[in-house]
Amino acid sequence: MSVTVRVPAKVNVQLAVGAARPDGFHDLANVFLAVGLHDEVTATPAEELRVTCAGPDAAQVPLDRTNLAARAALALAERHGLAPDVHLHIAKDIPVAGGMAGGSADGAGALLACDALWGTGATRGELLDICAELGSDVPFSLIGGAALGTGRGEKLTPLEVGGTFHWVFAVASRGLSTPAVFREFDRLTEGTDIPAPVASPDLIEALAKGDPKALAATVSNDLQPAALSLFPKLARTLEAGRGAGALTALVSGSGPTTAFLAADAESAQEVARSLRASGTCRNVRTATGPAPGATVL
Ligand code: C5P
Repeated sequence: MSVTVRVPAKVNVQLAVGAARPDGFHDLANVFLAVGLHDEVTATPAEELRVTCAGPDAAQVPLDRTNLAARAALALAERHGLAPDVHLHIAKDIPVAGGMAGGSADGAGALLACDALWGTGATRGELLDICAELGSDVPFSLIGGAALGTGRGEKLTPLEVGGTFHWVFAVASRGLSTPAVFREFDRLTEGTDIPAPVASPDLIEALAKGDPKALAATVSNDLQPAALSLFPKLARTLEAGRGAGALTALVSGSGPTTAFLAADAESAQEVARSLRASGTCRNVRTATGPAPGATVL
C-alpha cells in the first residue's frame, strides 16, 4: 500500500520584507499564490527512512535527512511515537532552489502522505504546526490557493481570488540559496530605516477581482534587488519577458526563477515562446493560479 500526494508550487505576488529579527528571520507581508506546477510525493512502508527523487533536476535534490520530506516524516513519527520507516519518492517537476517553494512542497506532501499511510489522523492545526517547524513556506504549500503570510511567512490568512491568472516562469541556469538572498538584502539595506512590512490593499483587491492588469500594477518583491545583485543576468530575462508583452515581470520569492504575468492564456504562450527564443534562461514553463494545496491522490 502506498499514498501519493500532489503539491503545488507558489509565486509571491507581494513580498514585503522587514528588518532582521533577533532570531535571524525577517518579518514579512508575504502574499502567496499557488500555481499549477506540481511535485508528487509517494509514501510506501519500508525497512527504514529512505528518500528517492526522479525528474530532470533530481540530481540537485539532497536525499539525506536535510530533505524537508524526510524531516516531515521524522517530525510526524516522533509526535506519534512511531518508527519513521517509510520510503518517500519525490516526482519532481517544480524547479529546484528556484524560489517556487519546491522543497517546501515536498515537506508538506510527505507530511500529508505519512499521515494518511500511518493513520495518524493529525488535525489540520497539528499538520500546520509541524509545517511551520519545517520552514516558513511549508504551511502555505499545505493550504494552497492564495494567502497572506505574516510573521516569518508561516502565519496564514487565506485570500479570496476571483479568477484565473496566467503565468510564465523562466527557470534560471543555476539556483540561489534563500539564506544568501536574505543576507544580501541585509547588506543592501544596512543603515537604512526599514518600515514594518504591510500587505497592499490594492493588491488584495486585484486578487479578489481576478483582474490581471490591476494585479500587475501592484506586485512587488523586496528581495528582487538582492537576487539581482547576486545574479545580475536575471535582469536580461526580466527585460526579455517585458518586451514580449508580459503585463509585469518579477523575481519569484528569493529567485532565481522569474515570473511573468500575462493578460490571458494566448498571451502567456506568446511570452513563453519569446522567452525560449531569447536564450536568457534554461527552461520556460506556463502555469495558472490559484491551484489547490497538498491533495491526496
Ligand atoms: O524558514 P526557512 O527554513 O525556509 O528559511 C530559510 C532561511 O531563509 C532562514 O534560515 C533565513 O535565513 C531566511 N529567512 C528569513 N526570513 C524569513 C524566512 C526565511 O530571513 N521570514
